[in-house]
Amino acid sequence: MARKKISLIGGGQIGGVLAQLIAQKELGDVVLFDIVEDMPQGKTLDIVEGSRVDQTDIKLSGTNSYADIAGSDLVIVTAGLPRKPGMSRDDLLTTNANIMKSVAENVKEYAPNSIVIIISNPLDAMVTLFQKVSGFPHNRVLGQAGVLDSSRFSTFIAWELGVSVKDVNAMVLGGHGDTMVPLIRYANVNGVPVMELLEQKHGDNAKEVMDAMVNRTKLAGGEVVKLLKTGSAFYSPATSAIAMAEAILKEDNRLMPTCAYCKGEYGLDGYYLGVPAVLGANGVERIIELKLNEEETAALEVSTNAVKSLIEAMSNLGF
Ligand code: APR
Repeated sequence: MARKKISLIGGGQIGGVLAQLIAQKELGDVVLFDIVEDMPQGKTLDIVEGSRVDQTDIKLSGTNSYADIAGSDLVIVTAGLPRKPGMSRDDLLTTNANIMKSVAENVKEYAPNSIVIIISNPLDAMVTLFQKVSGFPHNRVLGQAGVLDSSRFSTFIAWELGVSVKDVNAMVLGGHGDTMVPLIRYANVNGVPVMELLEQKHGDNAKEVMDAMVNRTKLAGGEVVKLLKTGSAFYSPATSAIAMAEAILKEDNRLMPTCAYCKGEYGLDGYYLGVPAVLGANGVERIIELKLNEEETAALEVSTNAVKSLIEAMSNLGF
């Protein structure tokens, strides 16, 4: 089987970790693109020089020329500014939309058959814009947000219950902003509902404890930004996108919360939103519709409306 080619557009904090993880997992050969001269070349040289120790053998190259991404099977985009303390993801809209437009034009020209995972924020808007400018089929353009938000939620549940995070399954749907929807009813520890375990531990206060974890999940990105001061989370976004990339490259058909294009699912027609999706050879293979209760439906509607306003704001800016 021919080796896969993976291009990373943006060689900053997340891009660097993506390149290292791909190398360590030998998912394919890597081209790291950035507009900053020499930096992607330096980063890939640094990573490749550790491959003897990692016992991996893939090609990694850094570039400032889009021509080098030709023939990519997969493209992961992190180009764009990260947040600074006090900023919301939406504050990045104008700057990152300009960047995303140029990225989409170039990926369309040089890697027209690739599947594209977007990480740049504000996520739902950036995925929408990339698809619009590239004209790629919707199943080949998707966004990473839910895998990370769900992992954050799972981490807080594991800490609270004193169980291994490996056994926690929890999913977060909706837009990648403060209105995201952590699904409490579906959260479980190896099949045991989390609420049941919280009730055993906290009795009548179980709901309060859960609400605190839900709120921390919604604000988790900002919590990291506040501590880092100079940028936003990069290890966990990278590892989350790699899980999606692996599902696609290995054609695994894994069910993951994905920013995917809805055509009527969840009452949403013609918008990207965080929903459970099966990821495989074609990118998004299909979206899974869960039966949500009234409260969950209402929360998802708030999130959907926030995403719609963001898309409208982007369109008013001329994108
Ligand atoms: N084309 C390609 N790369 C670009 C462009 C462009 N037009 N403009 C900027 N970049 C590059 C920068 O040079 C930088 O190296 O994008 C990189 C972004 O890296 P960081 O600033 O380190 O940001 P990072 O932490 O990696 O986050 C990237 O992902 O999670 C989101 O909110 C985050 O939008 C941000 C993105």
